[in-house]
Amino acid sequence: MTPKYVIGGNWKLQILRVEEAVSIATAIAEALEKLDLGTTEVFIAPSYTALYAVAQAIKGTKLKLAGQNMYFRDKGAFTGEISPDSLKDVGCEYVLLGHSERRRIFGETNAQINQKVKKALEKNLKPVLCIGETAQERKDGQMEAVNRQQLAESLADVEPEQLSNIIIAYEPVWAINNPFLNPNVEIKTATPEQASDAHNFIRAWLVSTFGETAGSQIPIQYGGSMKAGNCVDLLALPEINGGLIGGASLSSETFMPIIEAALGQMKK
Ligand code: 13P
Repeated sequence: MTPKYVIGGNWKLQILRVEEAVSIATAIAEALEKLDLGTTEVFIAPSYTALYAVAQAIKGTKLKLAGQNMYFRDKGAFTGEISPDSLKDVGCEYVLLGHSERRRIFGETNAQINQKVKKALEKNLKPVLCIGETAQERKDGQMEAVNRQQLAESLADVEPEQLSNIIIAYEPVWAINNPFLNPNVEIKTATPEQASDAHNFIRAWLVSTFGETAGSQIPIQYGGSMKAGNCVDLLALPEINGGLIGGASLSSETFMPIIEAALGQMKK
């Protein structure tokens, strides 16, 4: 069975006002209503402060909700953290974990991400585990080693039967439109060949670690400067099962063409 497609919009710290978040989410949800998504899933990950209002606005539509991060404990004296129970309470179905901005700007480790993945699974939140190498690591021939280590350590102690709730997002750091992550690096989308290599590597690792049945069904999204102009070639690859989109997910006009491209590929 081929994995389902999952398209996610990661709004990062870009949409600051609740009213604006609700308006964009509503426009995306309305546009989605006109499409037959089949098994394709679409989510957005707004700021925490907008989650509840956005959840109310998109209730009953095809658009789903994700948290951008979470803590690996349920509750307690942990100033500034967000509980998986709170994400569930406001209607999140997914949670992004281990995004390279969390890893590289905020110092999150694979061990912490592993605790979060396990907690999310326990709470019935679908983890979108983000992995990816920097430009320097790729240059040094470390692409496979870095992604292998992030996968192995972030998914430690996860059982094959839990995998059907996990999504992997391969986001090469050098392709993410973020100058803080990429000082002195020319930011550009991965070519279909580069993305294909990495996705095939990740798929092979998943199958060899978790077995054919579990390992072949996990969606592997591509992320990094994906937009209308470059998504068709990437999404045409059978090894790319969707996208995790930053900048281009911030309006219905730029996000919908990517979703439509994914649906077009699905029909082939
Ligand atoms: P951009 O699409 O803005 O490059 O961001 C990608 C990303 O980090 C999604 O999580």
